[in-house]
Amino acid sequence: MEIIDDNIYIGNVETKELAENYGTPIYVYEEDTIRKNYRKAFKAFSKYYSNFRFFYAIKACNNLAIANILRQEGAGIDAASVNEILAAKKIGLGGEDVMFSGNFLSDADIKAGLDSGVIFNLDDISLLPRVLKQGKPEILSFRINPGYGRSNVGEFVTNAGPNAKFGLHPDQVLDAYKQAKEAGITRFGAHMMPGSCIIDPEYFAFITELLMDIIGKAGQELKINFEFIDLGGGLGIPYSDEEEELDIDEAAKRVANTFSKKVEEYNLASPRLMMEPARYFVGNAGYLIGKVHSIKNAYKKIIGTDIGMNTLARPAMYGSYHHIFVDGKESEKREKVGLCGQLCENTDFWVKDRELPASIAEGDLVVVENAGAYGYAMSYQYNGRLRPAEVLVKDKEHWLIRKREGFKEMILGVSVPEHLDKK
Ligand SMILES: Cc1ncc(COP(=O)(O)O)c(C=O)c1O
Repeated sequence: MEIIDDNIYIGNVETKELAENYGTPIYVYEEDTIRKNYRKAFKAFSKYYSNFRFFYAIKACNNLAIANILRQEGAGIDAASVNEILAAKKIGLGGEDVMFSGNFLSDADIKAGLDSGVIFNLDDISLLPRVLKQGKPEILSFRINPGYGRSNVGEFVTNAGPNAKFGLHPDQVLDAYKQAKEAGITRFGAHMMPGSCIIDPEYFAFITELLMDIIGKAGQELKINFEFIDLGGGLGIPYSDEEEELDIDEAAKRVANTFSKKVEEYNLASPRLMMEPARYFVGNAGYLIGKVHSIKNAYKKIIGTDIGMNTLARPAMYGSYHHIFVDGKESEKREKVGLCGQLCENTDFWVKDRELPASIAEGDLVVVENAGAYGYAMSYQYNGRLRPAEVLVKDKEHWLIRKREGFKEMILGVSVPEHLDKK
């Protein structure tokens, strides 16, 4: 994004042009930024540990155009559900290019996962006999909760530690791999996903050490090789001015040093090091453009836009911060105002107090930054306010990559029993 003479450009396209072409609200992604983010991270990790691969956690932004960019860059897919496995298939990725990391799976999920032939990553030891009842995965991994996690929004997305719903307790790990080995499984991996949006390089080395000590011991005792060890996602991006950028080179160096040391200590046969980030690739590549529809001056001044908690759930869900720009007015005098969407919920009043240009008026365009990850993917229909469109930008070109929902989509799949259709 660039601001030239107060006008906001995404890629090399004026925000006004995007809003005129596609309406508002719209999610807009910069292709070049996604590629740049991926390459920066891949260069760092592969420099310090050559047998390295990223899988993209498609949950963060499941548009197939975006997933294809990351596939072209070399990423596999981390799938949280059967439908995400199908999304991976749709872009030509399957087998060991996809890892299925669902949790609390149904028997139907297990069957579909086995049929798809992707890597199975089990979130609990109790799943193993249920999987084995239906088939034997070619390669099996367990998601381990190493007892510690962290996030930038407190417990909301802290995915490990005693309060998290994810992963095996360290004390269950030996037994889990033992049972799998006894069942005739010969190829193994290991996985964790302890934290979210971390900008401290040392954190990544710390959790690597935690995981490696747990699985190193199990590997030695059971004489199994881990073909891959996946450290999850969690590579952070700064959302506010107070947050710094993650020093990705430093994080990669520390992780790779710890990883290599532990591989040697536990005599592991050179496993592939894997990570499955999402936010780091797509977070700052995505913007949400909305329009100011009305301004209220009652108890306080509130700017009413078409961006609500249904379009961008994170602020209402986690209290997370997103910077907001106003097209054409960025250099103007500011005042503290509130900003909200159009839903009949007060949690939709998602900005309570923010310095925005004092001249903000009906018809102005607002641009929300860092909306590429967990933005559209978490949007929903409520109050008949439907999901926005998605647009991809590359330099001066732009393409609609998902059309805006309309009434047809709102009632899609709905049927009314005959007796209710009569007078
Ligand atoms: C299992 C798993 N892997 C990877 C990710 C991606 O995390 P991030 O966007 O923080 O990199 C998530 C996010 O929730 C996840 O649940």
